[in-house]
Amino acid sequence: MVEDLKTYFFTRRGVTKAVDGVSFTLHAGETLALVGESGSGKSVTCLSLVRLVPEPAGRIVGGRVLLEGEDLLQKSSAEMRRVRGKKIAMVLQDPLTSLNPALTIGTQVGEVVRLHQGLRGAPLRERVLEALRRLRIPAAGTRLRHYSHQFSGGMRQRVSSAIALSCAPRLLIADEPTTALDVTIQAQYLELLKEVQASAGVAIILVTHDFGIVAAMADRVAVMYAGRIVEMGSTLQVFDNPSHPYTRALLRCLPDVGLKREQLVEIGGQPPDLARLPQGCPFAPRCPERQPICDETYPPSVPVAGGHAASCWAAPGAKARA
Ligand SMILES: Nc1ncnc2c1ncn2[C@@H]1O[C@H](COP(=O)(O)OP(=O)(O)OP(=O)(O)O)[C@@H](O)[C@H]1O
Ligand SMILES: [Mg+2]
Repeated sequence: MVEDLKTYFFTRRGVTKAVDGVSFTLHAGETLALVGESGSGKSVTCLSLVRLVPEPAGRIVGGRVLLEGEDLLQKSSAEMRRVRGKKIAMVLQDPLTSLNPALTIGTQVGEVVRLHQGLRGAPLRERVLEALRRLRIPAAGTRLRHYSHQFSGGMRQRVSSAIALSCAPRLLIADEPTTALDVTIQAQYLELLKEVQASAGVAIILVTHDFGIVAAMADRVAVMYAGRIVEMGSTLQVFDNPSHPYTRALLRCLPDVGLKREQLVEIGGQPPDLARLPQGCPFAPRCPERQPICDETYPPSVPVAGGHAASCWAAPGAKARA
């Protein structure tokens, strides 16, 4: 559970409010998609959860991140190292950079398993093989002795996922995990992720620009704009009844919301400068439904239906809640 998370960057230009009051809950086995334009704060949200915000400019300035009842923001760095990889695993955008070119795949997967489960020798090897087989890496026994450059992009993605999942994490954070993959491999990879999730009950936070992937993978969607969640609901609710003008604009950009991979078309206007956010709604200058109040006060979150809410003055009942 994430409560009112705030992560700011303190630079010479001023304070960039990259994440400014983000809250959501996530249950075991559930997938939450984070969507939104480039720069809306998706990656910084993910990095904040595992306390890997680039320092010293970046700082988590408020909120709570509760995992199994414990606030991760209160933990020491040593405790956080144990949480990462054990309870929370991450798959990064470019698996090549997260794999070590100088070590064999077997050593790298083994390192993680040994660190977190204290296994050695034959049981360790068995556990590593199991992790690779679970991600359908063919000839896992031989592949253990290979280096990352000997794998294709899709295979590397599987290997880094095998590393991420080999410690049975409670939460997997996947930040644009498939952008480097071609379409067929992407579909295969997502299928595997779903399978592993179903068998292990892992919760997933999936960052993506692709609404096709959202439709295929996510139970719920959070739409981010300028460091805040502007709309959240079940995937069906958000697709069927997008209730924030920004969400509607994003969805209108899609020629067809199916399983095809469609690049998101840019919506009109510029994303706001996060160091100079207006006092009202930061989407107002681009919004077709702009009203005077939008420039004055940030809109409250208004329930649309059970579990579905949007922060917009044009939403029915918004003014009554203010
Ligand atoms: N290292 C940094 N130093 C200063 N500001 C940063 C840094 N990293 C991110 N930011 C700020 O945080 C904002 C949010 O960045 P973030 O990487 O979370 O965007 P994103 O939603 O993941 O975008 P994308 O879709 O392009 O990956 C950026 O607009 C930028 O202003
Ligand atoms: Mg990002």
